[in-house]
Amino acid sequence: MAPAQIEQVGRRSLARRQPLPEYVVGSKGGPWYTSHTYPTKVPPETIVPFIEASTMPGGLVADPFCGSGMTGVAAVLAGRQAALSDLSPGAVHLARNHTRRVSPDQLAETVLEFDRSWMRRAEHDLYWSSVHTEDGDVFGLARHTVWSEVYECPKCASEVVLWDATEPDRPLPRDIRCDRCKRWLDRRGNQPIASVPRWLTLAPESGGKLVHGDPTPEALYQIGKIARRKITRWVPTAPIHPSREMYIRSALHLRGVRTVADMFARRPALALSRLWHQIGLVQAVPVRQALQFAFTNTAWHASRMRRYNAKGGQRPLTGTLFIPQLVSEPNVFEVFRHQVRQVCRLYDVLPDGNVDVNQSSATDLCWIADDSVDYVFTDPPFGNNIHYADCNIVWESWLGDPTDNDREIVVNKSRRVEDGGKTVNDYQRLLTEAFCEAKRVVAKDSRVSVVFHNSDDAVWTALLDAVEDSGLRQAEVSILDKGQRSQKGYKSRRGELVPFYDLILTFKVAGKGIPRLNGAGDLAMDAVTAHLEALDNSTSPKRQVDYLYSVAVGAVIGGGEKPIGLSLRAFEQLCNDHFDRVDGAYFL
Ligand SMILES: C[S@@+](CC[C@H](N)C(=O)[O-])C[C@H]1O[C@@H](n2cnc3c(N)ncnc32)[C@H](O)[C@@H]1O
Repeated sequence: MAPAQIEQVGRRSLARRQPLPEYVVGSKGGPWYTSHTYPTKVPPETIVPFIEASTMPGGLVADPFCGSGMTGVAAVLAGRQAALSDLSPGAVHLARNHTRRVSPDQLAETVLEFDRSWMRRAEHDLYWSSVHTEDGDVFGLARHTVWSEVYECPKCASEVVLWDATEPDRPLPRDIRCDRCKRWLDRRGNQPIASVPRWLTLAPESGGKLVHGDPTPEALYQIGKIARRKITRWVPTAPIHPSREMYIRSALHLRGVRTVADMFARRPALALSRLWHQIGLVQAVPVRQALQFAFTNTAWHASRMRRYNAKGGQRPLTGTLFIPQLVSEPNVFEVFRHQVRQVCRLYDVLPDGNVDVNQSSATDLCWIADDSVDYVFTDPPFGNNIHYADCNIVWESWLGDPTDNDREIVVNKSRRVEDGGKTVNDYQRLLTEAFCEAKRVVAKDSRVSVVFHNSDDAVWTALLDAVEDSGLRQAEVSILDKGQRSQKGYKSRRGELVPFYDLILTFKVAGKGIPRLNGAGDLAMDAVTAHLEALDNSTSPKRQVDYLYSVAVGAVIGGGEKPIGLSLRAFEQLCNDHFDRVDGAYFL
């Protein structure tokens, strides 16, 4: 949709100011969640009450860090328009497809046509297999193939397969024993020498339940033959540079990863490249794009990152590029059919809406006019937590160029600053630019809500300084519960505690010329509020700005702060924003 279609120019503001919820809780089971994975999706049902309290029906909501587009979904559900943007082409692809409905019947029909014309045959060619069971060998289509790391015994040079040492419901053992010479080997000090198919789940040709078992020798022979086949269609080969933060954190140098192509084993690469090519031939553009939407999630699932989990629910870890020791390789075509069904589930309930999505940095929203937006709801990256450009590259690069990570607003400590690394100060500077843009586009007296959390106080300070520097002022704080809390009430990432709940900080646009006050502003306003509370209702001189100014400056100095930026003019502006003014006297 062209930006011009969003009614921006010359319209009256559709901002509204009703109380915001103090606490919102969402679920991860809705169709917006299961249609495509994205790290840190915000459930749209938690955004809807913020939009409804801050805009009138038909109003315009903007999200300049839109990620998968959940703010857009919430706007559509609430009967508002939305203007979304993100630096990542992958995020833009998700945001567009999450907010633009395509006929589920047309999608289902196209997949049936794929099945009839080529997909069933291709599936048979790549996934026909057999397993040993107690009742004899069973033939059918492979659903999952578990690949296990293999180590070389340091004593007798035999192959030691990790899978053979694992037990269901137990963590992977650190020490594994060589069957031949009985020596134990510590996996931490040894590099795996290969990865081998060890366990199969298969849909029997006779129908009925899935069966699990060891692959037969013919199945192994077949898998080996496919692993030597040439890939004749395009697969992305975007480099994943070893200086990328997620490359380092996921130790990809131990997995021989140089490019995106290395994130896929041969059989999924053959299947994906064929599927991508066929989707590209679909004539109807909305159908083609919706199928590409199902495809990019399929590609993520079919990467080497998909973890085998004995309890089920096999999937890659979100927010990393980690390649596990036991990889569960799925049947690409079956995953794709499932993903299309998930997308149809979304389109079954998504109303038609008016959502414009652009690829741009939040630091430059030149495609949105000044004062044209009624409300901003946004969720910027939280410091050093997740590097979206790195995490998205595996599926995003199927769409073309991956995200320009030099412009990503994150703290990046793994690179030197001259090589694109970013300090907390850089992060703060870029966030300030982004908030200045948000302030420019939002109408006077409108709200800007920012989802945030971090366990590092330096990152919190950076965020709040950026808010203040851009001329936004804190107004209210709400708690966001995205659902599925762990027993402990907190998450743990790389051994570090990460807060489970996010905060939604809602700011309003400060008047012109308000300087930064840091802690001084709060001390001043707390003292003046307490002073006004203690007065009776008369219009005493103690309610005049000059008296209140003395109270404020006294409180700041008494509180051990300097009244930097607290000029009388700035203070008067603060009072105008916080209190009612009657004949020069201020009232709560
Ligand atoms: C926390 S995620 C947003 C997730 C989103 N709320 C959702 O529901 O999917 C932050 C987003 O900021 C984006 N981002 C990082 N730097 C950016 C920049 N300079 N301009 C715009 N977006 C940026 C990332 O690509 C990522 O999608």
